[in-house]
Amino acid sequence: MINVGIIGFGVVGSGTAKILLENADILRERVGFEIALRKIADLDIERDRGIRIPDGVLTRDVNEVLENPDIHVVVELIGGVRPAKDFILRAIRNGKHVVTANKALLATEGTDIFAAAREAGVEVGFEASVAGAIPIIKVMKESLVANRIRAIYGIINGTSNFILTKMTDHGVEFADALREAQSLGYAEADPTLDIEGIDTAHKLTILSTLAYGIPLSFGNIHIEGISGVATQDIAFAAELGYKVKLLAIAKEANGAIELRVHPTMIPREYLIAKVDGPFNAIYVDGDAAGSTMYYGRGAGSVPTGSAVVSDIADIARNIRRGAIGRVPTVPVTTRRLTIKKIDDVISRYYFRFSALDRPGVLSKISGILGARDISIASVIQKGRRAGEAVPLVVLTHEARERDVRRAIEEIDALPVVMDRTVFLRVEGREEST
Ligand code: HSE
Repeated sequence: MINVGIIGFGVVGSGTAKILLENADILRERVGFEIALRKIADLDIERDRGIRIPDGVLTRDVNEVLENPDIHVVVELIGGVRPAKDFILRAIRNGKHVVTANKALLATEGTDIFAAAREAGVEVGFEASVAGAIPIIKVMKESLVANRIRAIYGIINGTSNFILTKMTDHGVEFADALREAQSLGYAEADPTLDIEGIDTAHKLTILSTLAYGIPLSFGNIHIEGISGVATQDIAFAAELGYKVKLLAIAKEANGAIELRVHPTMIPREYLIAKVDGPFNAIYVDGDAAGSTMYYGRGAGSVPTGSAVVSDIADIARNIRRGAIGRVPTVPVTTRRLTIKKIDDVISRYYFRFSALDRPGVLSKISGILGARDISIASVIQKGRRAGEAVPLVVLTHEARERDVRRAIEEIDALPVVMDRTVFLRVEGREEST
């Protein structure tokens, strides 16, 4: 029998407890022995979570988990960096294996945790830290082990995807869609993490370490969220055949890795463009496997609990077989890899200029773009309002970000340009001229 202690009886903690208790029979059948939930520590043990917890399991004292000689696996589900990190390090020092869903902690302080675990000879499972129920960690560590990963495109924040879907399908305002996402329990305690792309970047940090064996590189990710996305750009994108999604992007070519999170236009017929509402999906392009995609619920109590329990089961099996460390926590590359600065990224772009509708304006703008080697693929101009700004929408061929930023600065300084230019990066099929 393998004994488990949970710290944190919130959304994911209660989902995990429910699965361990209600699916104990199926788990026993599959792993061949019992996985027993011994303790759940939380400051609030009174609130009804709708699960019948056996007597003696609930405690307000975290030491009953961390210092309990009977507990083999400690499950950290309180979130946030402190005190979660201290609890995990204490558990590791006490020789306990750890399972966590804490992407913010792993992305920013994971190096210390992985080093401590290596030293103590214990495992750290983190399947639930990226994309909830989707088994993407196992895919990256085990299923695609034979592949050089050419690219990853992820929709890995349900809150942002829910908001963008509402804005796209129902023309709902950003703030109303955010409120709805919060009431449905998708958002982090601090929703800034969701809407400003930080939660997505935490998860991309973890995925890129697994894909490329690089150190956890949260600080090197270019991050833009969705709070500045306007409904009219979503509508123009639709007119051009695209959807706007908050994507986590990792790509490797010739030893240089791109790591970026930003709202992105993708062709609407792409499978990943059809991932709507709170759902998550990760598209992985491996040199051997080719394209694969993983889809499912990226948040929520029982879906995320399913990933937590899968880690517990893996560790329990490894303990039984004396196979601790069979799959390393993270790979470590021996190749020389650099992370590209956003200025060096090459992409296609969507621009929305707010320009006066006058003869010669388009040629001025296209002249500035041309001088920076930015080639126009298509143009839309809607409406005529003498003396007023109208949206002038331009799609480009591939261009370098540094050139794009400089061109926009120049364009925004033109007297015929009335407002700051909006730009979005475009991935996927090339437009024909
Ligand atoms: N706030 C996250 C999301 C929850 O919206 O996807 C899962 O990490």
